[in-house]
Amino acid sequence: MVIRQMQGRDVDAAAALEREIFSKPWSKKSFQDALQSEYTIYLVAEDNMGIIGYCGIWLSSETGDLCNMAVRPSCRRQGVGRKLLEKAIHIAAGRGAEEIFLEVRESNLAAFTLYEKLGFQKVGIRKGYYHAPTEDAIVMRYGIAGG
Ligand SMILES: CC(C)(COP(=O)(O)OP(=O)(O)OC[C@H]1O[C@@H](n2cnc3c(N)ncnc32)[C@H](O)[C@@H]1OP(=O)(O)O)[C@@H](O)C(=O)NCCC(=O)NCCS
Repeated sequence: MVIRQMQGRDVDAAAALEREIFSKPWSKKSFQDALQSEYTIYLVAEDNMGIIGYCGIWLSSETGDLCNMAVRPSCRRQGVGRKLLEKAIHIAAGRGAEEIFLEVRESNLAAFTLYEKLGFQKVGIRKGYYHAPTEDAIVMRYGIAGG
């Protein structure tokens, strides 16, 4: 398995995985726009099955926002999500990010546990942030090197 930058040729696979996993999936266009921006870090995990996961961080001055994170259902609990996120955080730090924020559904124990394990801390709640179904978001923050 390799972790590498997402390329234009990966967008179809990422959007297909997105549709399989999320009730409000990102479109191909959203991924294409993200790849066009200089303020993003988009990574994929790839093995001999193809794209098995991806994550994306948007940078805004010293702050990063984790906007996408997914691993193919058959490839979970093998450290793929962790490796993707660790690498994305490392790149974000190298580009000057001092902190990274994210939102996660209150019921999403898998993602919440992954984030907590990597050092994210709960800093707030956004009421009714998610739709289909409506649910609160837990806001989490990761401080980089004293940030
Ligand atoms: C969240 C997600 C990306 C995790 O990916 P993953 O590759 O399975 O995660 P990892 O194997 O790297 O897990 C790292 C740690 O996170 C925790 N974790 C992961 N999945 C878990 C689960 N289902 N239940 C409890 N803890 C879990 C564990 O502590 C795990 O370490 P361990 O396997 O040694 O116990 C994956 O479950 C996913 O794609 N979910 C659907 C999409 C999603 O929710 N995205 C996040 C939106 S905010």
